[in-house]
Amino acid sequence: MNEILYVDDDDDFRELATLKIEGTTELETYECKSVQAAIKFITETPSIQLIISDYDMPGGNGNQLYEYIKKTRPIPFILFTSKTLAQIDNFECFPATEKGEAYLQKPEGLKSLAETVLSVLNKSKENGMKEEKEEKKAEKPIEFCKIGIKKLLRFNSINSDIFIKMSTNKYLKIINKNELYDKQLIEKYQDKGIKYFHVKKEDFSSLFDYYAQAFGSILCKENITIEERMFSEGECLRLVGEILPYMGINEQVAKTINELINSNIKVIRGKPNIFELLSKMMNNRDYIYEHSILISYISGLVASKMSWNTENTLEKLSLAGLMHDISLVDEPTLAKIENIGEEKTKTMIIPKQHIALIRDHPQKISEMIRKANCFPPDIDQIIMEHHEMPDGSGFPKGLSSSKISPLASIFIISEKLVNSIYQKQINKELFEGIIDNIMVTYNYGNFRKIIEGLNKAVAETFKKP
Ligand SMILES: [Fe+2]
Ligand SMILES: [Fe+2]
Repeated sequence: MNEILYVDDDDDFRELATLKIEGTTELETYECKSVQAAIKFITETPSIQLIISDYDMPGGNGNQLYEYIKKTRPIPFILFTSKTLAQIDNFECFPATEKGEAYLQKPEGLKSLAETVLSVLNKSKENGMKEEKEEKKAEKPIEFCKIGIKKLLRFNSINSDIFIKMSTNKYLKIINKNELYDKQLIEKYQDKGIKYFHVKKEDFSSLFDYYAQAFGSILCKENITIEERMFSEGECLRLVGEILPYMGINEQVAKTINELINSNIKVIRGKPNIFELLSKMMNNRDYIYEHSILISYISGLVASKMSWNTENTLEKLSLAGLMHDISLVDEPTLAKIENIGEEKTKTMIIPKQHIALIRDHPQKISEMIRKANCFPPDIDQIIMEHHEMPDGSGFPKGLSSSKISPLASIFIISEKLVNSIYQKQINKELFEGIIDNIMVTYNYGNFRKIIEGLNKAVAETFKKP
């Protein structure tokens, strides 16, 4: 297997690029975050046959790496940066294709990255390096694409079945499409020395899109102002402070979620129609605002108790929490209505047009999210299903517990918990009573593992002296 080195300090972009190369070629990639680390790695690894490098990196730039390679081990070099060649000093004569050089610009260059790498490698081999022919003969049609095992640590679920390779033609499925998995499962395979998982060839492009979309919002985040941070942290802490002691929360998790909420507000700012509703909600400081922020937090805390605590999962839950009732911002009391089944509404007088507003809000908001096209996948589904109930009595679709997605199940339980404690004096008895109640109502399918974890967390907390 040919080995190449990818050098870039941007973790998200580097992961996306190496996912593409590994999944669509037989190449094995190694990664470095800086020029110094790359120079050390190249010196120690004579088998590296090509280098792809970013330009701007802390502690040294792509030109320094390029100059080092020219002097010591002239191997093919691909410059892959967001800068144009005109913006870079000393790269006037770059790329010299006969020397096995190429230039690609971020992010569009991702599309042709794998082809460029293969073509540069082949050209440099035609120019004197041997072994290509034997390699070519050995290549077989790929039915499965490989994915570096570490890539799966970024998620708690993925939109394709995942396999491990047992022998040349035998693959064993270990994770089902969209099934929730935890870090320990991946680490178990890492400990066995497995470096790659596999997906079916026909699934690779949708898995790549899922990955790219998940990082889309991370890539577009900017730094938020101090005033915004102070403001929202203060609010969040006031609301959440009371419940934390009952859930055995570790400060680091609370801090991560807090930072996510703040930066997610910034992401939403980039979508004016959604941000307009969000600002209204934040200015109103009413029920929708308070319970949305609380759900953003609590769903992250519940997920972290289930070991589904990758930043990607917490981000999806947090964004879904912030936006799940946003179209009801002008009628905040409607967001309090959990179900609109006949049984539930006959005791309340709700005007017909309000019933329609409630019934349609999951679909309306999830469509807005899909159209915005900048949020990680699954958020629209969480919002679409946030009023479903495990016994099929929810709305809009009346899904049964096995049809409600695992992330939506976490969200639904978290919203129930938030609604049960909202504006109540929280104490041990109230909290235990709420958990008992949740355990009876939600003891079905995908919900089971969640309430087990929640119950365990609460029990552990109360055992503490
Ligand atoms: Fe809600
Ligand atoms: Fe709702």
